[in-house]
Amino acid sequence: MRFDVVTLFPEVFPGPLAAGVLGRAIAGGLIRVEAHDLRAFAGDKHRQVDDIPYGGGPGMVLKPEPIFKAVRQIRGTVTAPCVLLTPQGRALDQQLAAELADQPRLVVVAGRYEGFDERVRTSLADYEVSIGDYILSGGELAAMVLIEVVARYVPGVLGDEDSAGSDSFSDGLLEHPQYTRPAEFEGQRVPDVLLSGNHELIRRW
Ligand code: 6GU
Repeated sequence: MRFDVVTLFPEVFPGPLAAGVLGRAIAGGLIRVEAHDLRAFAGDKHRQVDDIPYGGGPGMVLKPEPIFKAVRQIRGTVTAPCVLLTPQGRALDQQLAAELADQPRLVVVAGRYEGFDERVRTSLADYEVSIGDYILSGGELAAMVLIEVVARYVPGVLGDEDSAGSDSFSDGLLEHPQYTRPAEFEGQRVPDVLLSGNHELIRRW
């Protein structure tokens, strides 16, 4: 699966995505993450991608032209849904991640400033996604979270034993407490039942 990220900060990618499970998937060619500099799609020599809001108000708004140009050029003749990262979007959860993972390719747009011109939302975005009810200064960290969560559903990214889809807790996220050695640490003991070797008792615990 391929993720094309449109961002004002392409240098922060792949960042933490290059570590661990996802890093292996990228190195092995299962996952591809390409960052594209939004400023490269600005029309003028000042490479301006934002402008003041009509009607007044604080902050700057991301202009439509560079974003439309970037997404269209990245897509070429291929169809790939456009995912806009915005705190107003649909909350990312495992179900949405699994749905997005059905696509071979996504164009992910990370915003900055006060947000996107409304025409980007209405005429370009196929999905608007938020990663939670709090405000980040930009969509880059949100894009990384989305890519990690979605990529875990791509066949082969996780080992068979803990694949995201077959995880019986994938909709509930609730796991039981985990212990490893030592059996006693700073006066706190692992529950006796876990040391009992009785698989039925352990299952019920
Ligand atoms: Cl997707 N973007 C920003 N800027 N802030 C957020 C977010 C996204 N999701 C939660 N907070």
